Amino acid sequence: MKKIVISKPGNYEALELKEFENPRPNKGQVLIEVKAIGVNFADCLIRMGVYQSAKDFVGWPITPGFEVSGIIKEVGEGVTQFVVGQKVIATTLFGGYTTHLVVSEDQIFPLPDALTYEQGAAIPVIFLTAYYALFELAHPRNGDKLLIHSAAGGVGSALIQMGKLAECKMFAVVGAKHKVPTVIGADVVIDKSTQNLWEEAKKFAPEGFDVILDANGTETLKADYKHLASGGKLVIYGFHSLFEKGRGSPNWFKLLYNYLTIPKFNPMSLTNQNKSVMGFNLSYMFKKKDILQKPVYKLLEWFRAGKLQPPPIKTYKLEDAALAQKDLESGQTVGKLVLIND
Ligand SMILES: NC(=O)c1ccc[n+]([C@@H]2O[C@H](COP(=O)([O-])OP(=O)(O)OC[C@H]3O[C@@H](n4cnc5c(N)ncnc54)[C@H](OP(=O)(O)O)[C@@H]3O)[C@@H](O)[C@H]2O)c1
Repeated sequence: MKKIVISKPGNYEALELKEFENPRPNKGQVLIEVKAIGVNFADCLIRMGVYQSAKDFVGWPITPGFEVSGIIKEVGEGVTQFVVGQKVIATTLFGGYTTHLVVSEDQIFPLPDALTYEQGAAIPVIFLTAYYALFELAHPRNGDKLLIHSAAGGVGSALIQMGKLAECKMFAVVGAKHKVPTVIGADVVIDKSTQNLWEEAKKFAPEGFDVILDANGTETLKADYKHLASGGKLVIYGFHSLFEKGRGSPNWFKLLYNYLTIPKFNPMSLTNQNKSVMGFNLSYMFKKKDILQKPVYKLLEWFRAGKLQPPPIKTYKLEDAALAQKDLESGQTVGKLVLIND
């Protein structure tokens, strides 16, 4: 088997493809021959050495990757729900950039017939993130106005689709002109590279937004809070504006400055202004089955019923993982990037 290994924090060259012996499944586990692997922004942060849960749970060396699809090659003792030869999707707490992966039975899900391996690997992280943000935290009502930053990206595009399922009015924000036509299903798309984001937003929601979903961090959080309606909720799930697009490694001065200027929210103001600020990181909730396993079955049911569509996908070979990460860090991609094995 081959897998990508990062021995120490670094730029793109830190992603090395290495050969290992095939792993064997233990009791309750299965061995998957991996066909496709979802690439996430967090994988880039792992490579740079700034992803806290990777340091907490693994350290160095580490293989990034939270989601794969493939075919079951071997089942361990006691596995009852899955058989050799079955096509599956799997979630994993790191380790996904590989040709062969051993995971426990409760981390795998049957790949729906209508989905390709690439689509299967593209779904878990972005749709689980969107599901948790919307249905566990924000709880939007029909007709609520939701503002989604980075709406052409992986999580952003999943949020747009799921907000529409909840019958909300979806306001999509993108950072480049070529992304505008790729945002499917939004009621309004604001291109902040050519339009004044908040002037435009105010035209559509003069009373403010009921929910704003933000993974930018420092760049937009203060303005987000200001543009919440009374009773509004700001859900924070990432901080990509701490990093310089396409640099490949942190600019430590900028990172420190951005970190120190992250807005602080006063509990008394939250109370008097009827605004809520929430945050989450799913990688710290990996063991919570209600959050990371059960919703996958619901999501796959929505895909089978045609209520959700897979995102647009661009594929790269596993050995080109560095190029995929470089592209994702450019801030220019749309939909989801997926690594494939021959
Ligand atoms: N908390 C969680 O559990 C969780 C789970 C999954 C993902 N996330 C977070 O969700 C965010 C989106 O992840 P994704 O994998 O779906 O990525 P993505 O949205 O497909 O790509 C990142 C997008 O973010 C925007 N961006 C702004 N500043 C950037 C920068 N400095 N470098 C690169 N991109 C920048 C760009 O879009 P625009 O210019 O159009 O805004 C870019 O296209 C990330 O911050 C990720 O860490 C969090």
